[in-house]
Amino acid sequence: MDKGFNEEWIEKLKQSNDIVSVVGKYITLAKKGRTWWACCPFHFEKTPSFAVNDIEQYFHCFGCGASGDVIKFVEKYESLDFYDACAKLAEYAGMELPEYKTDENLLKTKKKRERIYQALLDAARYYYSNLKLKESQVALDYLSKRKLDTATIKEFGLGYSLGWTEAIKYLNSKGYTDEELIDAGIAEKRSDGTLYDVYAKRLIFPIFNIYGNIVGFSGRVLEKSDFAKYKNTSQTLVFDKSKCIYGINQLKKLKNTENIKEVVIVEGQMDVISLYKAGVRNAVACMGTALTPSHAKDLKRFSDKVILCFDGDSAGQKATLRSIEILFNAGMNVFIVTIPNNNDPDEFINLYGINEWNKMLSGAYYWVEFLIRDFANHYDLTKMEQKNKFISDSLNVIKKLPTNSEQEIYLKMVQDMSNVSINVLKSDLKNGTNTELKQEDIKEQIEDKQINLKDNAYVKAVKFIISALIHKKEYAKLDDRIRQSLLNSDYVKIYDYVAGEHSEGRIPIVSKLFDMFDVEGQKDIYDVVNFVFVAGEDNEKYYNDCVKILVKTGLTTQKDQLLAKLSKTKDSEEKKAIMSEIQKILIMEKTK
Ligand code: UTP
Ligand code: MN
Repeated sequence: MDKGFNEEWIEKLKQSNDIVSVVGKYITLAKKGRTWWACCPFHFEKTPSFAVNDIEQYFHCFGCGASGDVIKFVEKYESLDFYDACAKLAEYAGMELPEYKTDENLLKTKKKRERIYQALLDAARYYYSNLKLKESQVALDYLSKRKLDTATIKEFGLGYSLGWTEAIKYLNSKGYTDEELIDAGIAEKRSDGTLYDVYAKRLIFPIFNIYGNIVGFSGRVLEKSDFAKYKNTSQTLVFDKSKCIYGINQLKKLKNTENIKEVVIVEGQMDVISLYKAGVRNAVACMGTALTPSHAKDLKRFSDKVILCFDGDSAGQKATLRSIEILFNAGMNVFIVTIPNNNDPDEFINLYGINEWNKMLSGAYYWVEFLIRDFANHYDLTKMEQKNKFISDSLNVIKKLPTNSEQEIYLKMVQDMSNVSINVLKSDLKNGTNTELKQEDIKEQIEDKQINLKDNAYVKAVKFIISALIHKKEYAKLDDRIRQSLLNSDYVKIYDYVAGEHSEGRIPIVSKLFDMFDVEGQKDIYDVVNFVFVAGEDNEKYYNDCVKILVKTGLTTQKDQLLAKLSKTKDSEEKKAIMSEIQKILIMEKTK
């Protein structure tokens, strides 16, 4: 990862800042055995599950999963970016920050970004203060019509833009150039070169990131007009709508005071605000865009369980289907709730209050059940052909469930709905009813080079091997066949790092991985760093068995990939080359 500082300097910075003493500056650590413990500063807890490992120089919280090296700790604790965290650590260690000459651009961008944050903050304060003026009566009337009180308006920093140029004039007078206001997404240029306020005459919703910085705005029209109801900041240096989550900063505050059981995803920012006002603090929104894997990844840091609560219209339903898939792939437990009578959460909570809301959420369907019910609504189950489709669609969902017992629950449901006996359904499930779809699935997997089979023997074996290597278990021997069979390029990188250190006579250290990867953001790497080894005498035998499994599966998968490639290739030269590679693998498979 390019971080703007040279690697040797970062190495030295880390060596000069022992993680135990740095963390100790912020929180009180107690030593038990070989590990230092504390209550986690990144989530609420009463008994310590935050561990600092002084030998490997990293921290890990067994409660919330926060994990990282000394730099990461300072970043997180002080809400600093990487550069500023390094600067802080350099100060602790009395080291000089190296000249940023090599990365002039990075520094420039950073300065620009800071200027944008500042402009957005000044703009937000300005819009907010407008609410005191009598020219803002329309906005105040609107806010009271939406039943928002002063405390809620303040918590979310709502405001009002008086007109097309007032905010621009104010911000110019505070020293912001026209270009800076355009870069911040506050202003746009007219054809005559003058600027206008993008959110003119709109109710202003500042959008915060997880650190509490304002990154953009959403502005709502107050009177009926031909303009879009909401206007959001377009892409800027600090705003990317595919990554932003409305309400994430409140969610972060909540995490520091209690355990978040589940996160509710709603469609609009008004929903988040009304729910908050009513006492529901775990709701967030994706601001008029489809949910992305980046959203899923960020939300997973707060809870493994999400409840989707989208509008009942067809756009909302489509969004639900896509979101389920994305959240499921991120490893989350997905539930879905449909609000009756086409109300949105804002309307519902204002009509019925928090108790009814909680009651409704406790009746949320697990995604499998939701989908099966959805299929049942779409097909006419009294017609043979449609019933068949219903069954095959349902089985395609059920087969994604990892255990037989889970599958059984939903097979029973399909049995009840279709009157086809569970034994027949089971055998269909085993044989794969929809072979066409299945092949598609397999092809996709192969093309992605992704082994998606959760926790199968291969994945378990690879994780154990890589973890044993990086954690320097004495039985973990390097072996070229391991490297050849790794299908995940990140693992290859780790393997190469370990092998490289060995060949130089050095010992690999875990905290190095925090330089190489975004450990918290990548589950595979995270699992490897935080692998829990079971003490036992047969670990060596287990390691060797794992290598066998790895090599075998690695070869088979490579063979499958080559076969798939072969079937697509028309070029005869290329065909020959692929065939000879397959031949090699066949020989290797036999000689093992
Ligand atoms: P909705 O149309 O469902 O609005 O859009 P809402 O949240 O119920 O808002 P109110 O109650 O009418 O004020 C849901 C979300 O989609 C985005 C906004 O983020 C909104 O909160 N949106 C909607 C836009 O970005 N642009 C639009 O023109 C409309
Ligand atoms: Mn609404």
